[in-house]
Amino acid sequence: MKTGYQAPAGPGPARQLDVSTLRSRFPALRRAVAGRPVAYFDGPGGTQVPAEVADKVRRYLVEHNANAGWNYPSSQETSAVLAAGRSAFADLLGGRPDEIAFGANMTTITLRISRALGQSLRPGDPVVVTELDHHANVDPWKALAGERGAEIRVARMDPATGALDLEDLEEKLQGARLLAMGAASNAIGTITDVPTVAGMARAAGALVYVDAVHYAAHKLVDVRAMAADFLVISPYKIYGPHLGVLWGRREHLEALELPRVESSPDQAPERVETGTQSFEAIAGGTAAVDFLASVIPDRGDDAGDSRRDRLARTFAALHEHGDRMFRRLWTGINEVPGVRVHGSPPGQDRTPTLGFMIPGIRPAEATAALAERGVFITHGDFYATTVVRRLGYGDDGMLRAGCAAYTTAEEVDRLVDGVRELAGAGSDVRSRS
Ligand SMILES: Cc1ncc(COP(=O)(O)O)c(C=O)c1O
Repeated sequence: MKTGYQAPAGPGPARQLDVSTLRSRFPALRRAVAGRPVAYFDGPGGTQVPAEVADKVRRYLVEHNANAGWNYPSSQETSAVLAAGRSAFADLLGGRPDEIAFGANMTTITLRISRALGQSLRPGDPVVVTELDHHANVDPWKALAGERGAEIRVARMDPATGALDLEDLEEKLQGARLLAMGAASNAIGTITDVPTVAGMARAAGALVYVDAVHYAAHKLVDVRAMAADFLVISPYKIYGPHLGVLWGRREHLEALELPRVESSPDQAPERVETGTQSFEAIAGGTAAVDFLASVIPDRGDDAGDSRRDRLARTFAALHEHGDRMFRRLWTGINEVPGVRVHGSPPGQDRTPTLGFMIPGIRPAEATAALAERGVFITHGDFYATTVVRRLGYGDDGMLRAGCAAYTTAEEVDRLVDGVRELAGAGSDVRSRS
């Protein structure tokens, strides 16, 4: 089986991220707990936002607020905000502006698209979902069993490696009409080789719906190279405001059998959207793409490069930085006796997100204790319920720490020190019991 997808040729060797300059753009990083600046490891649940993104949201509301499509300046400005948003997310995803639709969030978009695609299913048509996915890309498809009589097949993950079992997937894809898959696991950072898996699905005659919500924070999406039919992201995971973005092949966006309000537009991509959009969030989302495109400044010899080129430079640097932070985190946490870590080690294609467990202390108590040290990490199942269950955890879930563009080595060390203290306390608890 062919694996090992490499991202399309990038901008040459990665240039280093200037983390301290980048951090100065994030007001939230000035927040302190007990005299120490907060270390935010909650990026997989939502990243912090640069001042310029927040300013764009505010400025839209105070200077341009209107509905789109009318013949006066603030309405025309609002239409321009919408057009600029489609163009920014087309650049981020490698698609075209007329293939970009907005929604409240990834879950809402996926519920809508799954209902529409379900219209063409006949009883017994196989639909494949995976154990590795966030349930926003599982449950909307599973519901098609009851609604359309679809046969739902669940592709297995291997808990030891945290990867999809591609042989099992290949079997499950036989005769499938649709594959819903994730590009990266929000619980343990596994990256799935989308072009390879999408190629397997297409060969079986299935459409491919990709959840790139976690992936898009760490790697540059390229919808054409990924050979997807639909791909969804949530800008609030990539330094933007709360919003959902869908990319879909134009022919699909035109043909989807969508429930609609009679007088709403019927041309793509507008026909995929419902009601009035959050123009302020779209303005902020555009600013987040521009922020990302500005992270690695021009050297002077690359004037005239496109926003997509600049994004490619940034993502190469983000990946290199994330890799360094993750290596430090993985090594540090692995030196703490008894702590369990999940997913692949550093050096493999993964995001800098670590799922782990400290023995003898409940995840909710561990995160509260770390928060008192100014370290914000998340616990639970992160809606990746099946992953967390397959790793052997119950309702309390596990711990998750994600490195972001603004993460520093000092913050990683502070997290590791906190985990070490809690693991020591855990073993005290065990030896007393
Ligand atoms: C991988 C992944 N998919 C989907 C979602 C759901 O996104 P939204 O909150 O935009 O509905 C999340 C959110 O945590 C996620 O991490």
